Amino acid sequence: MTRFREGVDDAAAGAGRALGGDAAGDSPVARGGAVARRCLPRRDEPEFCGRLVIAANRLPYGIEEDGGRATLRRAVGGLVSALHPLAERVGATWVGWDGGQTASWARVRRGRRATPYRLAPVALPPRLREPYYDGFCNGTLWPLLHSFLGRAEFRQDWFDAYLAANRAVAARVRRETRPGDVIWVHDYHLLLVPGLLRQAGVSSRIAFFLHIPFPAPDLFRHLPWRAELLAGLAGADAIGLQAPEHVRHLRDAFSWFGPAAGARGGRAAPDIRAVPISIDTRRLAGRARSREVRQRVEAIRASARGRPIVLSVERLDYSKGILERLRAIEHLLEVRRDLRGRVWFLQLSVPTRTGVPTYDRYRREVDEMVGRINGRFSRPEWAPIRYLFRSLPEDELLAYYRAADAVLITSLKDGMNLVAKEYVAARAGAGGVLLLSEFAGAAGELRGALLINPHDARGTAGAVARALDMPALEQRQRMASMYRHLQRHSVHHWVRRCLA
Ligand code: UDP
Ligand code: G6P
Repeated sequence: MTRFREGVDDAAAGAGRALGGDAAGDSPVARGGAVARRCLPRRDEPEFCGRLVIAANRLPYGIEEDGGRATLRRAVGGLVSALHPLAERVGATWVGWDGGQTASWARVRRGRRATPYRLAPVALPPRLREPYYDGFCNGTLWPLLHSFLGRAEFRQDWFDAYLAANRAVAARVRRETRPGDVIWVHDYHLLLVPGLLRQAGVSSRIAFFLHIPFPAPDLFRHLPWRAELLAGLAGADAIGLQAPEHVRHLRDAFSWFGPAAGARGGRAAPDIRAVPISIDTRRLAGRARSREVRQRVEAIRASARGRPIVLSVERLDYSKGILERLRAIEHLLEVRRDLRGRVWFLQLSVPTRTGVPTYDRYRREVDEMVGRINGRFSRPEWAPIRYLFRSLPEDELLAYYRAADAVLITSLKDGMNLVAKEYVAARAGAGGVLLLSEFAGAAGELRGALLINPHDARGTAGAVARALDMPALEQRQRMASMYRHLQRHSVHHWVRRCLA
């Protein structure tokens, strides 16, 4: 553990200060020596070893204020799940937006609270929050890149704010970077950052990874700022995407709307590859078998009273197809009366993007539908859907995976879906059925899953029924083959390929 330290004001962004990490005042010993010690690769899984500056919109921690006490809480989402352990291992510097919690971060810094590596929160002027994060990131790019064209709004003031936010992050990354560092920029919030860094004269190696899908150029072309975004991406040396399909789409977009070769200042075009993100398979499998987790599993099973548990876990996001899943559950309970009272659908929905109108509306729709289905089918001793609206710490989540007879993932579009992979890791050596949307990136890898089309309520209901009836031997065989795949394709493999 290292301690928060005073950093330097970020003039462009206003008030961003570096926290933690022996970043320590930028001492080469702290940043070089500690890193070299801490990232000795494992014998079987060599990965990145060097100095790393990560740039992502979301910092790995948020701050919860409670009666004058500030608590650091791990942020939820696939990006943080994959990068936080790496950042910890190599002692990275993580640059990201402070989420508008500028005063809280300042208090945390004054309290000299510990973080396992250096954080560099970027403060954006409050007027940018809505047009940048709610607007261009989650009202334009998130829907468009997930192919929900009808949900995407195109507004010049949103793009202007996005550009300003990307400039602030790029300025901070530049100040945090020393010769020889590798810069790794993440996700749709920061598409302009590689290009802005090049404009500012940064010559370090820049890798970029897009955690969400890249759509067909026919969809992408609707974006009035498509050329600007591609010029931003063209500043990277390497671009990683979740699936070969997204690679094809991005290459096509570059050839249709991308910058001319001459505009790259003599630099080669980025190397674009499919590098599916993954999990720390062995660590999760080991943790899922720990005594603490096993005890929690017993408690969860006891509360289900012998009924099979069908679990769903996700941020409460329309892209996860939660309403579609609820329709399938309703259909199943309509046609299979014998299952009433005998199966338990457990829905863990993590609050996300609260305050963004589309998300607040979606949450109300989900609440209403859960209420309606429970109202319709519940009995005094049983309700079909248990609905938790919160996030859980890792051990607790692993206990739910371990207790669940099946996991049901209904994404309408999903870059990867790490929950699917985590379920397989947690079930190592046991049965269980993975019901996986064919529209999640994970479906391209996890061949032992039962694939579903979430738009097809009847088909999804049928697949759930099949999962509940699947013989134990078949369950174990399917799980074992997926587990073997994830041992070979873990997050370490992903890091190595992205940063090679
Ligand atoms: N997660 C978590 N706590 C929770 C629920 C989920 O930490 O209560 C994590 C989960 O372990 C997974 C991530 O959130 O690593 C979700 O990643 P995924 O790729 O499935 O979806 P995303 O949220 O990135 O769209
Ligand atoms: C997805 C995105 C991440 C994002 C996460 C949580 O995983 O790919 O970039 O951090 O969702 O969303 P949020 O808006 O809370 O950061």
